[in-house]
Amino acid sequence: MSQPSVLRSAVVPAAGLGTRFLPTTKAVPKELLPVVDTPGVELIAAEAAEAGAQQLLIVTSPGKESVAGYFEAAPDLEKTLEARGKEALLEKVQRAPGLIEVKTVYQYEPKGLGHAVAQAEQALAEDEQAIAVLLPDDIVLPTGVLNRMIEVRAEKGGSVLCAFDIPKEEISPYGVFDVSDTGDPDVKQVHGMVEKPSAEEAPSTFAAAGRYVLDRAIFDALRRIEPGAGGELQLTDAVQLLIDEGHPVHIVVHRGGRHDLGNPGGYVRAFVDFALQHPDYGASLRTWLQERLEN
Ligand code: UTP
Repeated sequence: MSQPSVLRSAVVPAAGLGTRFLPTTKAVPKELLPVVDTPGVELIAAEAAEAGAQQLLIVTSPGKESVAGYFEAAPDLEKTLEARGKEALLEKVQRAPGLIEVKTVYQYEPKGLGHAVAQAEQALAEDEQAIAVLLPDDIVLPTGVLNRMIEVRAEKGGSVLCAFDIPKEEISPYGVFDVSDTGDPDVKQVHGMVEKPSAEEAPSTFAAAGRYVLDRAIFDALRRIEPGAGGELQLTDAVQLLIDEGHPVHIVVHRGGRHDLGNPGGYVRAFVDFALQHPDYGASLRTWLQERLEN
């Protein structure tokens, strides 16, 4: 059996239409929108590399090649920056290509997150028993939860998802887990999932976040589920099928922050949050924001 802690491939589904970011996404994939000066997808690649992944499988669609293209080296630009003595910029430009090996797989039609993840199977080696999936819209802070999820898979087998503990009155926009306790307060066994329940109907306060460590059995499950709402193949339906068939599924409850880069409102918050911590822009932004809010 391959070492469960050695998780080789991290899948980044990035073939969606990004309709909430129109009109920008007519021309620029939302995964390349900058958080201060760095595209969201670079933050995700860094997190995958930190968790020990060796390849990033970017699921893309025709016309969104620039997302994977961003990870290619830029030798002419590098030479120019070097000649001009711009060391700090050179380092920034070289960071993404040096993080992790990037491969592209295509999803030719946006038939849902489950369908996007299914496309990754063709790029896996035969002995890969599990994959990580990172939704590039979702910034989970601080990083490190994937490492904990990989450990939980090593202990308990099966698949491990990430959850946030959300106040009950704010739970209704989320996918919510039906769980039972394990010996660890931050690890729960999952029995089911309810999409967007009312606060009264929510089976717990644990809401799904965009990080998954999925057993390879997910691909077989994805072949067996029926399309749901909008003709889309839902990843959660495939996870539910695995649970129903007795496959162990757990969550790791992440006690930290989160940003949703997938809509302009969440994106603005993430941008401001990162900018406030930036050594060059943080102090003056804080002063300006305070003045702006007073007037
Ligand atoms: P979202 O539903 O948040 O992204 O899917 P979207 O469809 O691009 O955005 P809107 O709703 O139109 O604004 C979550 C992630 O799954 C990917 C998206 O690219 C996003 O990263 N996805 C979604 C796919 O790769 N393929 C799909 O068919 C659907």
